[in-house]
Formats: sequence, structure tokens, C-alpha cells
Amino acid sequence: MAKSPPELSRPTNPTLKTPSCPKQRTTMSASSLYSPKLSIFLLALCVSLFTLYHIRFLHAPPSSTSWSLMHHWERVTNCTQELESMAEKLRQAVTFLPLKDLRYADTAPEGHTWFMSSMHDTREEGEEQHQQFPSESSKGRLLCLKGKETHDGSWNSYALAWPEALPINATLLKGLTFVSYNHYNYDNIWHGLSAMVPFVSWHRRNGCESPSRWILYHWGELRFDMSPWLKILIEATFGGAPYIENFEGVNDNQPVCFEKSVVIRHNEGGMSRDRRIETYDLMRCRAKVYCNLSLEGRIAEINKQGLPVIGMTLFMRTGPRSFKNESAVIGIFEKECSKIDGCRLMVAHSNNLTFCEQVKLMSLTDILASAHGAQLTNLFLMDKNSSVMEFFPKGWLKLAGVGQYVFHWLADSSGMRHQGAWRDPNGDECPYGEDDRRCMSIYKTGKIGLNETYFTEWAKKVLNEVKLKKLEEAAANKTNASASICACG
Ligand SMILES: *[C@@H]1O[C@H](CO)[C@@H](O)[C@H](O)[C@H]1NC(C)=O
Ligand SMILES: *[C@@H]1O[C@H](CO)[C@@H](O)[C@H](O)[C@H]1NC(C)=O
Ligand SMILES: *[C@@H]1O[C@H](CO)[C@@H](O)[C@H](O)[C@H]1NC(C)=O
Ligand SMILES: *[C@@H]1O[C@H](CO)[C@@H](O)[C@H](O)[C@H]1NC(C)=O
Ligand SMILES: *[C@@H]1O[C@H](CO)[C@@H](O)[C@H](O)[C@H]1NC(C)=O
Ligand SMILES: *[C@@H]1O[C@H](CO)[C@@H](O)[C@H](O)[C@H]1NC(C)=O
Ligand SMILES: *[C@@H]1O[C@H](CO)[C@@H](O)[C@H](O)[C@H]1NC(C)=O
Ligand SMILES: *[C@@H]1O[C@H](CO)[C@@H](O)[C@H](O)[C@H]1NC(C)=O
Ligand SMILES: *[C@@H]1O[C@H](CO)[C@@H](O)[C@H](O)[C@H]1NC(C)=O
Repeated sequence: MAKSPPELSRPTNPTLKTPSCPKQRTTMSASSLYSPKLSIFLLALCVSLFTLYHIRFLHAPPSSTSWSLMHHWERVTNCTQELESMAEKLRQAVTFLPLKDLRYADTAPEGHTWFMSSMHDTREEGEEQHQQFPSESSKGRLLCLKGKETHDGSWNSYALAWPEALPINATLLKGLTFVSYNHYNYDNIWHGLSAMVPFVSWHRRNGCESPSRWILYHWGELRFDMSPWLKILIEATFGGAPYIENFEGVNDNQPVCFEKSVVIRHNEGGMSRDRRIETYDLMRCRAKVYCNLSLEGRIAEINKQGLPVIGMTLFMRTGPRSFKNESAVIGIFEKECSKIDGCRLMVAHSNNLTFCEQVKLMSLTDILASAHGAQLTNLFLMDKNSSVMEFFPKGWLKLAGVGQYVFHWLADSSGMRHQGAWRDPNGDECPYGEDDRRCMSIYKTGKIGLNETYFTEWAKKVLNEVKLKKLEEAAANKTNASASICACG
């Protein structure tokens, strides 16, 4: 269920909060200029003067005193007029820049981003890189966005504006807005999760504050949807289904400003390993609560003989990167599992499990064996220190680039043990020659064979390691996971 759109407030004629009169200006810092207390004080002052003037005027003929008062009043009104005209100038001066800055097109995926290129992220040691508006570094200004372009991000634009001088015709959206920049997409669950993780970290560090809306950008272009898996994970994590802003009822040329916003464009960049682990801990915990699963760790599951159960899961794909002979692969793992007391083999297909079925499967898994693919994104939902075994079809090592290591990184970020990968030496022939980049389009969708000797030894090694670890943990009465990781730090 999507939330109903948060309320729009349209200050068609924004009332000017009287900032300050010339006399006081020199003594005030920029931040106090817009303090509401000050505005109230000044308003009270103006009203008092006005009242005084009227009392005098009614009770006595204009005297020299009342003339001076009247003069004072004129100066006060003049001061208000001056401020109004100043605010009008500020309003006119708000300058929108393209969200996608083509000057940085070459470095877009790394280094200086082309998205909001004039802005610098707040960098705190070990924390997610982000920008927050209003903030000290924005000098109290809010973020405003303009444009609903979904094909060319250089036609969408951004600007900063003081709340007292929002651009003409601006709509102000209340509440907290998360503005996400994703260089890839929100349909692939790994890419979507990467864009979401730093927001979860921000949420955790800011007393569990949740957004009223998300604005999703890809290359500066608006996106209105994300994978259902990701949507439910967001719902579980932030305590409500995400409302993805679509700017309905706003014209292409109409600026929209945000009462409070957080912009993130660098995924996990800047986050320390400890911070990443805490962030995945929080998501795992919230996902289990959402799916009504116990928070007890794997340590709690023991078999009839009192031995810890080792859950080994073959998480199968269909189509590209599936096994050529699934039943043969299952047979090998089944055989090794049966040799270990307490081992339980589960076989599941990623394509027909609901989100909560996937969370549940992971909560029963100590060893996840799966081909490289988006379904492996679920690995962070296992208990920490669980194992991952990954399979690749032919050709990936040389041609797939660093992207092939994403599940290695995810395992590291979420505190899992990546137990290596098997790379099929055999596969489809490529007409351009093995090392030609064009071959990747063939290898990408290749299927995965098997090597019985290798699979047997590998499974045996990982199973024995996990068995030892679990026996040690059981002997040490390691405490079960507690609900406290669901809380914000
Ligand atoms: C009000 O300000 C304008 C210029 O901003 C000035 O010309 C005018 O004399 C001022 N009036 C009074 C009453 O101070
Ligand atoms: C503000 O909106 C009005 C009415 O829609 C329009 O006529 C006017 O041109 C707009 N002004 C600007 C600066 O966009
Ligand atoms: C969890 O349990 C609650 C209360 O029994 C129920 O309303 C909710 O639908 C359950 N959620 C899931 C995902 O099964
Ligand atoms: C798959 O493997 C099994 C067991 O090794 C074998 O009996 C079967 O013929 C294989 N199927 C195919 C299509 O190769
Ligand atoms: C899930 O998909 C696999 C393969 O596509 C199929 O064999 C299995 O029966 C399906 N399970 C369910 C519950 O639909
Ligand atoms: C994971 O394993 C490491 C090293 O064996 C150990 O120090 C740590 O306590 C384990 N963490 C959990 C949550 O079991
Ligand atoms: C299968 O794996 C074993 C053990 O790593 C290796 O010695 C053997 O050459 C492999 N067989 C094939 C056909 O690749
Ligand atoms: C673990 O718990 C059991 C039963 O609660 C107890 O008998 C045993 O001494 C404990 N072991 C350690 C190492 O604390
Ligand atoms: C862990 O959970 C199991 C199963 O509920 C329970 O028997 C055990 O006492 C718990 N251990 C600790 C340390 O809380």
C-alpha cells in the first residue's frame, strides 16, 4: 500500500518574516537573521509603535513628540518595504542549474559526479557522504528542484533558496525528502540496495527519522518505480511503504522546494566497514520483524541429537546463469550434506519466492550456494558470519569488469564470509575470440556446468568449517541476536 501523497502547501503569496532593521543588521550573524523569535520581536515592536502612534494621534493634536514618532513609524514601514524588496530580489536571484552537468560526463560513475555538480557532500569520517538542506553548510537554504524530465537529466534543475525568499511560484513540500541519485537503476535489487543503504545509515544516525517521500534520479532523470523487493525492504526498514514523488499537479517550470531534504549520490562511499555492518544489521533485524520471524539467531536451531543444524541452501536461477544440469548439482551437494551431522540441504528458486519467503529462507541458511546474480543480494539477510559460495559461467573473469565482485563486497559489508567462486572453464563459443569485449554479451547469459570433483571438495571444506564454528559457538553459549539491533544508534 502506497502512502497518500504528503500534503502540499503552496505559499502563493509567501508572507515575509520581517528579518531585521538596518540599525541591528551589523550586530547579527547570518544564522540569527532568520530566527523566528526575532521576527516575532520585531513584529511586536512595529505593532507597539503603531499603537503608540495612534493613541497619541487620538488624544492630542500632533505635537513635536508625535511627529517624531510618526517619523519613526515611517522609517519602520520604510524598513519593511526595503526588506520586502530585498526578499523579492533574493527570490528573483535564485538560479537553477542543470541536475546533470555534462562537463563531468566522463567521470560520472566515479570521482566528481555530474549530478548537482556544484555541491559538495558533507564528509564525516566513516559516515555516508550526504548533503542536508537546510543546514549550516547550505547557510540555511532549502533545496529546490524543477523539471519532470525522464529522458534527459540536463533539462531538470536544482537551486538553493532561503525559506523567506523561495523562487516565484514555488511549491513547498513539508516533511523529510530523500533525494537519491543512482548511476545504474532501481529495478536491479543489488543496484537499488546500494543506493538505499546510505539512507538507512542516515536514518540510524538521526534517531530513526523516516522520509515522507523519495525522489529517485538516474542520470538526473526522474524515476517513479523500483523493484518490488526493494520497496518492501524500504517499507520494513523505514516503517512505511515508500511514497515515490511524481510531482503530480506541478508544472514543468514550477519549482518545488523541500522543508527538509537529504541528498545522497555516492552509495556506500565513505562509510566505514563498521558503519556498513551496523546498517545491514538494522535492515536484517527490521526485515525479520516485518516478516514476523523470530530474531533468535541460527545458534538456537538444534537437531534431535542436540547438534546445531547447518542450513545449506542452493538458491537456483532460471534462464541466464542457471545450472545446465540442476539435478546433478543438487545431487553433489546432497551427498556432502548427508555426511555431516545436522546438515540440512534446501533447494529454492529465486524467481517464485515472495520477499518474506526469501527473508525466511535466509534466516534458515548458514551456507548460501548460488550463481552470480541479483538473487544473491539476499545474502545480507543471513546471520552474520554465514558463508557464500558463488558460481560463474565461462568468460566472466576476464571480461566482466569489477562488477563481478559485487557479492564479494556485499558479503564483506554485511559481515558474511565469501568462500570463493567457481568459474566454469567451458561454455558457449564466441565468434570474435575469447578475449574480445563483444563476447560478454554471449557470456552474460551463459549457463553453468559442473565439476564434480571440485564441487565435492569445496562443499566438504565449507561444511566442515561451518560445523566447527557452530560447535564452538554452541559450547560458548553465544548469545542469541537481540532485538536491540533494530533500534537506532
Ligand atoms: C525610504 O527609503 C527611500 C529609499 O529606499 C528614501 O528615498 C526615502 O526618503 C525613505 N523615506 C523615509 C521617510 O525615510
Ligand atoms: C507564475 O505563475 C503564473 C500563473 O500560473 C504565471 O502566469 C507566471 O508566469 C509564473 N511566473 C513565473 C516567474 O514563472
Ligand atoms: C505479521 O503478523 C501480523 C499480526 O499477526 C499480521 O497483521 C501481518 O500481516 C503479518 N505480516 C506478514 C508479512 O506476514
Ligand atoms: C544430469 O545429471 C544426471 C546425474 O548426473 C544425469 O543422470 C542426467 O542425464 C543429466 N541430464 C542431462 C540433461 O545431462
Ligand atoms: C518455482 O520455480 C521452479 C522453477 O521455475 C519450479 O520448479 C517450482 O515448482 C516453483 N515453485 C513454486 C512453489 O511455484
Ligand atoms: C564472526 O567470526 C569472527 C571470527 O571467527 C568472530 O570474532 C565473531 O565474533 C563472529 N561474529 C558473530 C556475530 O558470530
Ligand atoms: C575439476 O576440478 C578438479 C579439482 O579442482 C581439477 O583437478 C580438474 O582438472 C577439474 N576438471 C575439469 C574437467 O575442469
Ligand atoms: C552453557 O549453558 C549450559 C546450559 O545452560 C551450561 O550447562 C554450560 O555450563 C554453559 N557453558 C558455558 C561455557 O558457559
Ligand atoms: C537462545 O535461544 C534458545 C532458543 O530459544 C534458548 O533456549 C537459549 O536459552 C537462548 N540463549 C540465550 C543466551 O539467550
